[in-house]
Amino acid sequence: LTGQISREKVALESLAFLSISTNNLTNATGAFRILKGCKNLTTLVLSKNFMFEPVPDDESLGDPDGFQNLRVFALGGCRFTGQVPTWLGKLKNLQVLDLSFNLITGSLPGWLASLPNLFYIDLSNNRLQGGFHNVLCGMPVLTSKEASDKVDRSYLELPVFMKPNNNATDLQYNQLSNLPPAIYLSNNSLNGSIPIEIGQLKFIHVLDLSHNNFSGSIPDQISNLTNLEKLDLSYNQLSGKIPASLKGLHFLSSFSVEYNDLQGLIPSGGQFDTFTISSFEGNPGLCGPPTPKRSCHQSHQSPQSPPQVLEVTQRSKTQTILIALIFGIFFGIGFGIGFSMDDKKIPIIGRRRK
Ligand SMILES: *[C@@H]1O[C@H](CO)[C@@H](O)[C@H](O)[C@H]1NC(C)=O
Ligand SMILES: *[C@@H]1O[C@H](CO)[C@@H](O)[C@H](O)[C@H]1NC(C)=O
Ligand SMILES: *[C@@H]1O[C@H](CO)[C@@H](O)[C@H](O)[C@H]1NC(C)=O
Ligand SMILES: *[C@@H]1O[C@H](CO)[C@@H](O)[C@H](O)[C@H]1NC(C)=O
Repeated sequence: LTGQISREKVALESLAFLSISTNNLTNATGAFRILKGCKNLTTLVLSKNFMFEPVPDDESLGDPDGFQNLRVFALGGCRFTGQVPTWLGKLKNLQVLDLSFNLITGSLPGWLASLPNLFYIDLSNNRLQGGFHNVLCGMPVLTSKEASDKVDRSYLELPVFMKPNNNATDLQYNQLSNLPPAIYLSNNSLNGSIPIEIGQLKFIHVLDLSHNNFSGSIPDQISNLTNLEKLDLSYNQLSGKIPASLKGLHFLSSFSVEYNDLQGLIPSGGQFDTFTISSFEGNPGLCGPPTPKRSCHQSHQSPQSPPQVLEVTQRSKTQTILIALIFGIFFGIGFGIGFSMDDKKIPIIGRRRK
């Protein structure tokens, strides 16, 4: 499809699901104004259109007669310029927002935390600057059981497909609750420290802060994120030690702190016994398995006394068995829904022809 969306063609008041990704549509502002008339839209996938246009920032797009039923809004890969538009903050039913692979500048908007149903944000591969506002750590669905329970978990009218990496087959999501609660901020220019308030995001499954300029230490509070399955902090300037408390994250199956400036002994036990050297590369100060430096004795860190090490090893065996059991149960139920924790991803592209 090329050209502009015409008012006559989409005057469809009952339309609930529209996916027209990967076309050559132009005039995003015009398109959004027209589509706003489809008041029953719950899923709108416009990814990979409108190349290099300004992101529509007309406040009236958030009016009560607009996109108020939208649950999924996918605008990835449009190379949109401008800032994250504030009218999105008025879409109170929004659950999934994909603005990845655009050219969005400005700071990470704290008002995202005012959206009562939002549990999946993808702002990766943009040009965002500034810090990770601790206000974002208050996102209702990611912090509170009550808010999380209130999210509409009904089926979508049609499935949404996502491609976890360029070579993988698409993953199909029929039900939004199968999408892992996630914050993707990879590949921006975010800086400052990771706030300790991050520990409030108890229901998050994926946190990807890789390829930014975050500095300071990894907050101990991350160990409060007990549902975490993927944590990617790679390619930042984080320093200090990897908190030993992270080994208490029993669902963590993907972990990377590659290319930072971390030091000291890599925690052992728990899921840490499953991570390979690739999770830790590019941190010359790290020592202990799985690095080739078996101990930290040469470094300026104070060496641990043998009895302590022995105790840790002993405990980790019991933990491993326990984790194996938990994993058996979890994946037995969980794998039917088939979500992926793969590393590379591209925008939500909606329905795809096979
Ligand atoms: C974009 O669409 C709107 C609404 O249809 C229209 O008013 C406007 O003239 C269009 N802009 C361009 C550059 O064609
Ligand atoms: C980051 O984004 C830029 C374009 O904005 C792209 O060229 C680059 O490959 C991306 N880097 C990674 C590691 O994805
Ligand atoms: C994609 O898969 C093909 C065939 O399985 C393989 O030859 C190729 O190297 C893969 N490409 C990447 C980027 O992984
Ligand atoms: C982390 O969990 C502990 C125990 O549940 C709690 O006391 C503490 O306040 C939590 N920290 C944060 C930052 O949520």
